[in-house]
Amino acid sequence: MAEKEAGLSIDDMAVFCKKKGFVYPSSEIYGGMAGFFDYGPYGAELKNNIKQDWWKFHVQSREDIVGIDGSIISNPKVWIASGHAAHFGDILVEDLKTHERFRADTLIEETLKIQADGLSAADLGKLIKENNVKSPKGNALSEPRQFNLMFTTNVGPIQSEESKAYLRAETAQIIFAEFKNVYETSRLKLPFGIAQMGKAFRNEIAPRNFLFRCREFEQMEIEYFIHPKKHNDCPYTEEVMVEILNIYSEEMQEKQQKEKEMTVKEALSKGIIKSPWHAYWLATELRWFINLGAKRENFRIRQHKKDELAHYSSDCWDLEYNFPWGWKELQGIADRSDYDLQQHMKHSKKDMSIFDEESKEKVIPNVVAEPSLGVDRSFLVFMFDAYDDDKKRGNIVLHLHPKLAPIKAAILPLVNKLEGKAKEIYDSLKQEFFCFYDRSGSIGRRYARQDELGTPFCITVDFDSLDKHDVTIRDRDSTEQVRVKIKELKETIRKLLSSELNFKDLKRE
Ligand code: GAP
Repeated sequence: MAEKEAGLSIDDMAVFCKKKGFVYPSSEIYGGMAGFFDYGPYGAELKNNIKQDWWKFHVQSREDIVGIDGSIISNPKVWIASGHAAHFGDILVEDLKTHERFRADTLIEETLKIQADGLSAADLGKLIKENNVKSPKGNALSEPRQFNLMFTTNVGPIQSEESKAYLRAETAQIIFAEFKNVYETSRLKLPFGIAQMGKAFRNEIAPRNFLFRCREFEQMEIEYFIHPKKHNDCPYTEEVMVEILNIYSEEMQEKQQKEKEMTVKEALSKGIIKSPWHAYWLATELRWFINLGAKRENFRIRQHKKDELAHYSSDCWDLEYNFPWGWKELQGIADRSDYDLQQHMKHSKKDMSIFDEESKEKVIPNVVAEPSLGVDRSFLVFMFDAYDDDKKRGNIVLHLHPKLAPIKAAILPLVNKLEGKAKEIYDSLKQEFFCFYDRSGSIGRRYARQDELGTPFCITVDFDSLDKHDVTIRDRDSTEQVRVKIKELKETIRKLLSSELNFKDLKRE
């Protein structure tokens, strides 16, 4: 599988994120804890901006999707019904000498350079035997076996089997458990979606690659419900027909071909993507990333092979990103049929069917697509695509989309004498945008500091500002500077941040 040319590694990114106040290893003063991270001042802003934009794009700007915010711990029966309590796991192998444990599929993928995700314990064991796969330390491995990833806790004052509960391993199940409540209180008609974002917890065997695989992370998920007999009626496909997708179908993988770019129209007409709903959601999700400044060439969509599919799923595609260590899942978009609603109906004995007014029948809706995205993986994508070691400037520049940038504008008095005016401007702007006031160091050093945090605009107050009532705005990406009247500053920044105005057009005004 093609790996990116040597560039910024994930370890370099972790070092940068720590140094600049984006992300720290959790509880580092006590030696840290594998798979847990704390977002620092700029990371927390960036992460919140990602989540806010996702919510606006997927929930608030649509009529067909509503959002919920469910609890992290729920009745354990939710996880028994969903199958997580019994079957949600990965297959592990143990180094028979050091007793270190590894995910069997990852170890095989790294050693044999093949795709092993989704293979059974028996198949993984066969591959280990046939290819004499050893642990990273060169020792023999145990037989592969299942390991459940659910974190458990106890609820209430008595710690017993009866008080045992689970931390949610995905946000999705809360959507299914609340399906009837949401339907009855939100006046939705099929087809419709329910979205949720929030924390999820998995006791990963081997958390690795910084934020890519952690034990505590966040998800942004949608369950999209349709009438069970209307799998081909997607009213939105026209909106995305011209979108170009970099497709890696099951057939291409089997024939060991490379991924291929084509429009949604071509992929549907040639039957490469069979479901119009899948095509719609893949293109929509890609569009969300591209609109926020991610680089198109770093994305592809890969179809799951038959042996990767859950037994109830007829098709699943991943939106993959070309991370420094190769193409990896960023988002899964699965067809889950009516499996989850049926399971909750069976276990709770509550009716999950709804009355479809159009067909005048009672139906159990099908989940035709479950776009399920990790916030922390998205954070990495935006950071990698924004990161630029600008040799000419002599500093790192984060070309983050203004919507995502943690700080929107920095206010810099050229010398200390100008602090009064600069503070006045800062006090006014900070009412509306997250701004930063910086008076220390040379102006060049202060610009570099803001470049490294991805601040799109620096506002410099100089001696002319006192007489002419204007300031300079410096554009992060071009380093060009333009003078703007102080009374027009707020409006100008507002327009620049919302892309209503381009910096280069500002000059000509
Ligand atoms: N409800 C479906 C579901 O949870 P998943 O493929 O297990 O599917 C969805 O997870 C997304 O959640 C992944 O594509 C990834 O972005 C994110 N994710 C899953 N496990 C993760 C982990 N250990 N660390 C960080 N992100 C993770």
